[in-house]
Amino acid sequence: MQSSKKNILVIHGPNINMVGVREKGIYGTESYDSINTRIQEQAQKLGLHVDIFQSNCEGAMIDKIHGAMGVYEGILINAGAYTHYSIAIRDAIKSVQIPTIEIHLSNVHAREEFRSKSVIAAVCVGQICGFGGDTYLLGLYALKNARHKENR
Ligand code: DQA
Repeated sequence: MQSSKKNILVIHGPNINMVGVREKGIYGTESYDSINTRIQEQAQKLGLHVDIFQSNCEGAMIDKIHGAMGVYEGILINAGAYTHYSIAIRDAIKSVQIPTIEIHLSNVHAREEFRSKSVIAAVCVGQICGFGGDTYLLGLYALKNARHKENR
């Protein structure tokens, strides 16, 4: 039972499981497993309970977001490339009304122009990007006190 701890869901989208192997110049050399270990360590320090989910499939991510209703009080999502075009993930986030923070390892605003557009940002409490694995830790910190607010 995690009764008194705030329940947080971390969702890693497509290709995030390849971090540490893929495009190291952009995403760094820290492995996916190491990032997850640090997420859990930080969660413990902040008194949060965190479950971590990864999928390369849009539908599976949407199902997980729907299933978060009534279970989780915050979501950290790195939707990978879906960030830039998945209206379906945007609608799922908006549907559940759980404070959600958009995360990116890289600074998406400093890369190709298409990456600076996020279709999910407007339904998230905020966006944090550019700090590698630390981005998730900053996100946990931000979620600790985040409340749902409707931007749109
Ligand atoms: C990413 C940025 C996206 O543009 C890209 O498609 C990814 C990773 C990031 O964490 O920096 O897969 O979400």
